[in-house]
Amino acid sequence: MERTYIMIKPDGVQRGIVGNIISRFETKGYKLVAMKTRMATKELLEKHYADLTSKPFFPKLRDYMLSGPVVSMVWEGKEAVSTGRKMLGATNPLESAPGTIRGDFCIEVGRNICHGSDSVENANKEIALWFDESEVLDWESHSQSWLYE
Ligand code: GTP
Ligand code: MG
Repeated sequence: MERTYIMIKPDGVQRGIVGNIISRFETKGYKLVAMKTRMATKELLEKHYADLTSKPFFPKLRDYMLSGPVVSMVWEGKEAVSTGRKMLGATNPLESAPGTIRGDFCIEVGRNICHGSDSVENANKEIALWFDESEVLDWESHSQSWLYE
């Protein structure tokens, strides 16, 4: 089954939206296979946002991501990567549809609450970056046969 890396950014933690975000993925039917709260590091962020390090906003993005704890999660299920992106909403929260996480909870692109992997390939890289293999669990959910036909 497909896995995606979802990370609640420091503003999501500070504003008390962690439970709401977890609840959305949980009630959608996705399976939580890894979760931890931690401080990001410069080294991790330079790898995680490797495609953005040359952008003028990168130093601000790095400082924002280092400003408090983040919550790292891996969610598993059918098309978890693309559906996870839809659940987050557009990068710029003023363009995110109401009903999405960014559409419901934030205003600015530099304070947009959460991250979601943008491809299966990047999801696998991000999961390997933020988690040890032993932290990502294979477990059987009793809801499977009620979620999938
Ligand atoms: P992530 O899920 O966090 O990767 O966002 P994304 O995939 O929707 O967008 P992208 O990967 O292009 O950008 C990563 C993050 O950089 C965004 O979520 C924003 O927090 C930040 N960012 C992107 N563009 C800008 C910008 O123009 N200004 C500022 N301040 N931040 C930006
Ligand atoms: Mg991105």
